[in-house]
Amino acid sequence: MSNDTFDLIVIGAGPGGYVAAIRAAQLGMKVACVEREALGGTCLNVGCIPSKALLDSSEKYHEAKSSLGKHGINVAGVTLDLPRMMARKSDVVKALTGGVGMLFKKNKIEHLRGQGRIVSAGVVEVASSTGKQQVTGTNILIATGSAPIQIPALPFDGKNIFSSTEVLSLTELPRRLAVVGAGYIGLEMASVWNRLGSEVIVLEFLERALPNMDREMAGQLQKILEKQGLKFRFSTTAQSAAIESGKVKIAWTSGDQSGVEEVDKVLVCVGRRPVTDGLGLAELGVEQDKRGFIKVDGHFATSVKGIYAIGDVIGGLMLAHKAEEEGVALAELLAGKAGHVNYKACPGVVYTHPELATVGLTEEEAAARGAIKVGKFPFLANGRAKAMDATEGLVKVITDAKTDRVLGVHILGAHASDVIAEAVLAVEFAASSEDIARAFHGHPTMSEALKEAAMAVEKRAIHM
Ligand code: NAI
Repeated sequence: MSNDTFDLIVIGAGPGGYVAAIRAAQLGMKVACVEREALGGTCLNVGCIPSKALLDSSEKYHEAKSSLGKHGINVAGVTLDLPRMMARKSDVVKALTGGVGMLFKKNKIEHLRGQGRIVSAGVVEVASSTGKQQVTGTNILIATGSAPIQIPALPFDGKNIFSSTEVLSLTELPRRLAVVGAGYIGLEMASVWNRLGSEVIVLEFLERALPNMDREMAGQLQKILEKQGLKFRFSTTAQSAAIESGKVKIAWTSGDQSGVEEVDKVLVCVGRRPVTDGLGLAELGVEQDKRGFIKVDGHFATSVKGIYAIGDVIGGLMLAHKAEEEGVALAELLAGKAGHVNYKACPGVVYTHPELATVGLTEEEAAARGAIKVGKFPFLANGRAKAMDATEGLVKVITDAKTDRVLGVHILGAHASDVIAEAVLAVEFAASSEDIARAFHGHPTMSEALKEAAMAVEKRAIHM
């Protein structure tokens, strides 16, 4: 057993775990973080960051091939160097995971390399190729994240049938790619490979894409993606996959119809499951729900005293920034401060082109709770969008009809992921549409479309 006793031992160095470790260290705690793989977790290594690197690279390739001419820029002989694109992505990942290591050093956080198992409250065993050691800590935080869900009929084989992890490292362009699941990952990865030249077909179990998003906005995005070349098959279940001569034959059913799609590769992205294997939870009596998510109270405490959990492993929105906020809140609660997470103001972004960014209630959810008003403004009428040749999409602001409080904002457009930040503040500060409408917005910017949509709530948008 190591002689060191820590105030906090964090298991998992993803955005939840590493942020909790840093915030706890800032607050004066002696912190260790156990991680068996590279620092940064799914987000930095095989999730948000590499996927955005590929989304940006593929966007540039597509622009160079198809739309720079409109700007008077003629480029000939554009070719794809996929290994180089992948290498750039890996460099971005390496720089950022290295950055987490530097932050650990700066904050004197001990990085314990290996697989963590909680032996008892206060004791964690760390197993690595060099042996096992035990460390003790007053508090233990589980931040072990999530992994892709596997469908038994379409098991990941790393060769033809991929999870979101392997699809980030393809070395050859698939001629035909099937994507199972039209959620966040499905639409983002379908976009990448469609732009690079694959023929992409998306099979979705439900009758629409992005089931948790505002129906109108998700529908508009779907139409734009269809124009870009994506093919969708809704209300469709992938039943099985047979691999013949290097091709995958996916048998599907849709109501009383059935068929087979022959493709080169399949990406299965039908959600994620909590990662808790090997942690020793059952032996300790840490309660989990029937899907395996760790049960916690409002202060992230599990059913065993001194053991806490945050991030994907406790369920809710499986987003990096949600885990980060929980990490900060937990560290502050442990330090006797008032840590708090306002889930109602948690944004979600689908990084397609255009992007779909959202905060607060969808129109359906808001209307089910009472009378609402809705203001909309299209990017077609926004000067900056016109100048950028990015006029697809719109902004939708939903307010309480009586109080004018902003209940939800949905932005479909270029740079929506940045513009949504203002709407997040509006929801966080319980702003009204009038507050947004009266605030200055730089001209010409995409954010002016948000101001105009807020004005449209009272039917006084200027440019429409
Ligand atoms: P998801 O939950 O977003 O979407 C899964 C989709 O698969 C759903 O539309 C569902 O109806 C469909 N589906 C489920 N079973 C199916 C079946 N057997 N056949 C066909 N369709 C089926 O899950 P996804 O895309 O795998 O993402 C996982 C998590 O990662 C999400 O919770 C998301 O929040 C997070 N994520 C967030 C990103 C972002 O913030 N931009 C990017 C990527 C992932």
